[in-house]
Amino acid sequence: MKAMDFLIIGSGAAGLATALGLTHFGRVAVLSKDQGQDSATLWAQGGMAAVMKDTDSIAAHIQDTLNAGAGLCHPQVVRQMVEHGAAAARSLIAWGVPFTRDERGDFHLTREGGHSARRILHTADATGRAIEETLLQRVREHPDIFLGERHFAIDLWVEDGICRGATVLTPESGQIERWPARTVILATGGAGQVYLHTSNPPVATGDGIAMAYRAGAEVANMEFMQFHPTTLYHPGSTPFLLSEALRGEGAKLRLPDGSPFLERYDPRAELAPRDIVARAIDAEMKHHGLDYVLLDISHQPAAMIKAHFPTIDARCLELGLDITREPIPVVPAAHYTCGGVVVDRHGRSTLAGLYAAGEAACTGLHGANRLASNSLLECITTAAAIVADLQTFESIRPEPASFPPPPPPHRAIAVPTDALHRLRSRIQATMWRAVGIVRQDAQLQEARKQLEGIGAELQDLAETSHGLRAFHELRNLLQTAMLITQSAIARRESRGCHYNEDHPQRASQALDTIMQRDWPAPRQ
Ligand code: FAD
Ligand code: SIN
Repeated sequence: MKAMDFLIIGSGAAGLATALGLTHFGRVAVLSKDQGQDSATLWAQGGMAAVMKDTDSIAAHIQDTLNAGAGLCHPQVVRQMVEHGAAAARSLIAWGVPFTRDERGDFHLTREGGHSARRILHTADATGRAIEETLLQRVREHPDIFLGERHFAIDLWVEDGICRGATVLTPESGQIERWPARTVILATGGAGQVYLHTSNPPVATGDGIAMAYRAGAEVANMEFMQFHPTTLYHPGSTPFLLSEALRGEGAKLRLPDGSPFLERYDPRAELAPRDIVARAIDAEMKHHGLDYVLLDISHQPAAMIKAHFPTIDARCLELGLDITREPIPVVPAAHYTCGGVVVDRHGRSTLAGLYAAGEAACTGLHGANRLASNSLLECITTAAAIVADLQTFESIRPEPASFPPPPPPHRAIAVPTDALHRLRSRIQATMWRAVGIVRQDAQLQEARKQLEGIGAELQDLAETSHGLRAFHELRNLLQTAMLITQSAIARRESRGCHYNEDHPQRASQALDTIMQRDWPAPRQ
């Protein structure tokens, strides 16, 4: 493989926006472990937050983000991203993203929990699909971008303390190759698949976060896994989100007997930040022994529901549920990885030559709890910051004179896929049971022991499985589960998405939890 200037791992919003921006400055490769569009971006529903109208303000969006983040956001980063929201929207529009407009031709803005104004740009209820398909089309058309679909990045390749590329399992050769690059950008998304119940697509196995940690980069705030309050309860079917925008447009949460309950937990009720809503549902489900609660928008006109939420309406109808006429069963599920690879305001990680963007990164925007629809905003603004930083070749290392040989080819051997599958299920069940919405010290310690045991069993399979993507994904899931659990153990308070019944108070000082491979324990 000829050395690239920029190797971008991930083809969601963050990776694609970075790729499109970098083409003026060098050769770009984008890797995607499945088909190009398979990403959390494709599944995003509600939209992207940006201050687009005079009736809203930068100050209000900043304040809402800080409130949701429970004292842990980095205020300068929040300001930078919120101020760049309109520019991020303009980039997407210029690339061709068809945001929904009202009858006057203005952008229609919707509202979600934690937002004090209508500020969510959207494409009906399939905003992520509109962004992913538009940007991917631009990337496919671009003559200077190589798009490597079904190319699985295994590890970062580090020499002399500098990231010099990645090792990649390629579909053509089925072998592990070294892909050298002057700069590597991780845009691998989040880690929802660590949990038994998740809104996330199958690709969300925390690969980039695990790779960066193994390579020696700092990773922060992994205990803050955000649980979305309302995913469809329909055992056996693929995960499906019921967008927070439903509550923004008047949907109510009710117990199966029809009674509302959120007012008892927060005066903002349905529009409270999602950590509060998810915990309230969890408490009610435990108290009444329920498998689900109900989300009801059936009091709104059917025409409005069908116009605003065509994807949700169609998916529910496929499953025999009519959202225009009846309440829908919902449960909370793991949704968003607020922590990730530590980056500065330029997107630079603590490892030279490595940048990170999107859900894989920890920029400081989300703090202890992400405000709804701030993730797509972060993807596009961080991509722009990285492009700005890499605009001059002065900030890019010279091409290495020679590359070391690739790792030895692996032999095809009978592979223990059942064993890998069983270990994966055990990780997911352990994390759901013991490191979920409400945590306790003893359960966290127990989870750590379980994960260590799974690690020993996985090690035994390494010899026979190292040519298998499933093995490397499992290794990443385990690594990420461990980072979440260790960070949760280290945080002896409750804040944002991390709630520990043994430490229910919020500490007076807000500190990030930072982990690095060579440190014996997390630092705060
Ligand atoms: P992703 O879009 O997840 O892309 C990750 C990419 O990395 C994929 O291409 C994947 O193949 C690739 N990859 C991963 N590992 C490897 C590897 N080892 N080798 C090669 N490639 C790899 N946020 C909002 O702001 N608004 C919303 O309305 C919204 N709705 C959401 C709804 C759902 C159901 C979900 C799951 C999330 C939602 N989010 C929303 C969150 C948001 O969609 C994501 O945080 C965001 O899209 C992440 O983008 P990304 O580019 O960082 O990663
Ligand atoms: C949703 O549409 O509810 C998801 C929005 C988000 O995750 O930001």
